[in-house]
Order: sequence, then C-alpha cells, then structure tokens
Amino acid sequence: MAAQISPSILSCDFAHLADEVARIRNADWLHVDVMDNHFVPNLTLGLPVVESLRAAAETPLDLHLMIEDPDRWAPAYVEAGAGSVTFHVEAATAPVRLARELRHQGARAGMALRPATPVEPYEDLLGELDMLLIMTVEPGFGGQKFLDLCLPKIRRARQLIDRHGLDLWLQVDGGVSAETIERCAEAGADMFVAGSAVFGADDPAAMVDRLRGQAERATGRTAQA
Ligand code: DX5
Ligand code: ZN
Repeated sequence: MAAQISPSILSCDFAHLADEVARIRNADWLHVDVMDNHFVPNLTLGLPVVESLRAAAETPLDLHLMIEDPDRWAPAYVEAGAGSVTFHVEAATAPVRLARELRHQGARAGMALRPATPVEPYEDLLGELDMLLIMTVEPGFGGQKFLDLCLPKIRRARQLIDRHGLDLWLQVDGGVSAETIERCAEAGADMFVAGSAVFGADDPAAMVDRLRGQAERATGRTAQA
C-alpha cells in the first residue's frame, strides 16, 4: 500500500479553518485532534467543528480522540462525518466492543498507544482494528520533538501485523517531518500525521507531496502499489 499523509489541523489558524484545509487538497486524510482537558492537558474542538469541517472539505476526516470515556463519545464522531475514528486504549473501557461499534457504523476503527504503552498486550485485538496509531510524542500538543524511543515499537507492531496477515494501517503521530519520516517508514509505518511540518511550511501542499515521496522511497513502495 502507498504511504498516506494525514496533516493535523491542530497547527492551522482555527479562525480560517476552511481556507487552511483548502491549501492541502492533495492530502489523503485530514487529522483532527480532539482533546478534552482530562485525558491530556489541552482543549481543542468537538462535534460541531467536526460537522462543519465535514461540510467544508472533501478530504476524509481522521479523528484522533484524546479524551476520557471514548466508549461513550466516539460513535458520535462517526455520525458527525468522520471516516476514521481512533480512540486511546488507555482511556477505553471495552476497546473490542468500541471498535466493533465504530465499524458497524461504517467507519474505520483505530486504536492509539501513548509512548509508554506497549503493543504486545494487544496482539489479539489487532484483527478488530483498521488502524493502529503509535504516538511518537506524548499526546497533547503540536510541535513537540519526535521520540526515537518509539521506533522499536513501530518495528514490533509491523512484525505483528505481518505475522497475522492483517490489513491494518500503522499510523505515527508526533514530530513527523522531513527529518524523521524516513525513520518511521523504514520501521514499518504507512500512515503519517504531520502538523507543524505541513502547516509551518511555505507551501503546505508541496510538503505533503514531499513527505509522501520520502516515505515511499524509504519503504521501496510506489504510489501504484
Ligand atoms: C499531538 C497530536 C498531534 C499533533 C502533531 O497530541 O495528536 O496530531 O497535532 O503535531 P506535530 O506534527 O507538530 O508534532
Ligand atoms: Zn493526533
């Protein structure tokens, strides 16, 4: 599968959100970070903004829920128009039930791991998911430094996915840039979130293409694959 780029709107000018996302029509997804000031020490946006964004942009929405009690709140984000909804396993009470519910609603189901959360305990759950998100910073803020200590976990996750023959996207989020994306791709990631690297660039669309090209060259994959 070709590498996919999901720019995080956390680095946008929120007063001009529609204009900002119109600058990156070549993105594969739009990554939307929902924070509740409980699971992480920051507060961003919720359902009304997601609904408006859905109406304003054609690119599918990749929701990253950094919230407590995703079992209760995540399904509403599918109703709001998300194509993919990722919850944190550290916050979920019943991750299998939640993943099945999200899929039943017609969305892709994703599960996220904080940097200190190991992947091995969740090996048997992976078949319930469409995406595994390995955080490469502590969730909560954009513009943080990439944590190289997460690379071995990306490699181990890729081995588990391949061993079980799963059709599961492996996403990385946090500090992903032209300097770090190749390391992630070589470790086995195929879906890349980038916030400050994209929206901090002079030409955000050119940066999306550049990142995708770097990732694809690093894995030896092509856009046609
Ligand atoms: C952090 C968010 C990220 C963030 C990434 O908690 O989940 O999606 O926006 O921003 P950068 O790419 O700047 O690290
Ligand atoms: Zn995110």
